[in-house]
Amino acid sequence: MKGVIILALKEMVIEKFGIDKWRTALVKAGIKKEPLILPISNVDDQFFLSVVNSLCEVLNISFIQVADAFGDYWVSVYSQKMYRVYYENVKTAKDFLLKMDSVHVATTKSIPDANPPRFEYEWKDEKTLIMKYKSRRGLIDLMVGLIKGVGKFYKEDLKVTKLGSDKVEIVFKN
Ligand code: HEM
Repeated sequence: MKGVIILALKEMVIEKFGIDKWRTALVKAGIKKEPLILPISNVDDQFFLSVVNSLCEVLNISFIQVADAFGDYWVSVYSQKMYRVYYENVKTAKDFLLKMDSVHVATTKSIPDANPPRFEYEWKDEKTLIMKYKSRRGLIDLMVGLIKGVGKFYKEDLKVTKLGSDKVEIVFKN
């Protein structure tokens, strides 16, 4: 997993819950010294998962709640600084989500060993999109949190439902 995801998670936790919670979560995850992480660093997927799991304990919230908080923060705050260009001229949640497969390929193209999630799109009817998640990481809950974050950012009332471990249904109001 790219370091940028951990850095965004860290910033979100510090901003919303305070630095002590972040430090306690690392200790609980058995990390004695926080490694130096750069956005393009490769971080072991297990490192990310252990930190998220101990955050659930420290903050007394579920994995889904961490994923929702992360998704909201990533879309509305973090990516607005790092990846503003992807929002330019994109006016709706639908258009943004439809770009996500190519955005993940593009953002990781120049990074060695990147393994971005890929998405496939299927329209169930004119307002209902099924996004298929293709990644061996099994982070569908994170995907749901990010999609909800997109809805919030575009101020659209999306209905987002997880359909099993590799599909999400999104109903657009317009
Ligand atoms: C400007 C917006 C976004 C950018 C630039 C971006 C970029 C990235 C990058 C660089 C990674 C790390 C990939 C790796 O380690 O190989 C990642 C992970 C991820 N992204 Fe995004 N992302 C964006 C928005 C979204 C949205 C809206 C979704 C939901 C559809 C999403 C779903 C995910 C998931 C689930 C992961 C975790 C890795 C995995 O499951 O394999 N991202 N993203």
